[in-house]
Amino acid sequence: MTKVAVYRKEHFNAAHRLHSSFMSDAENAAYFGKCNSPNYHGHNYEIIVKLIGEVDPKTRYVFDMKLLGEIIKQEIVERFDHKNLNLDLPEFKNLNPTAENIVKVIYDILRKKIDSRYELNLRLYETERNFVEFPS
Ligand code: NI
Repeated sequence: MTKVAVYRKEHFNAAHRLHSSFMSDAENAAYFGKCNSPNYHGHNYEIIVKLIGEVDPKTRYVFDMKLLGEIIKQEIVERFDHKNLNLDLPEFKNLNPTAENIVKVIYDILRKKIDSRYELNLRLYETERNFVEFPS
């Protein structure tokens, strides 16, 4: 059997404010800098979804990429695009919306939608230079 990794990239814009409830306002301002700005700021997020699975002997696909794109758009882009993560998404009501936490939230949503026979791995770009991966 041949295992192959397939990737699908999608995009969303969202605003957030980084603020930890474990730190004082002064500590937050010092640590997160501009990202702690009370009036929020935006990012152009790129999400790359990686699936690893067997090549289907009939279709020779690992996964239908059109379907994968639709799942990501429906489950993630619809929920995250043009939203204020702190205010609009209940997941971040008490969770600091760092890239580390965002990728974990996205993983938990997608994991329920992708059959467990596929290994799922995500990479989230917050900027061109800063990105995170989960699972690591
Ligand atoms: Ni930011």
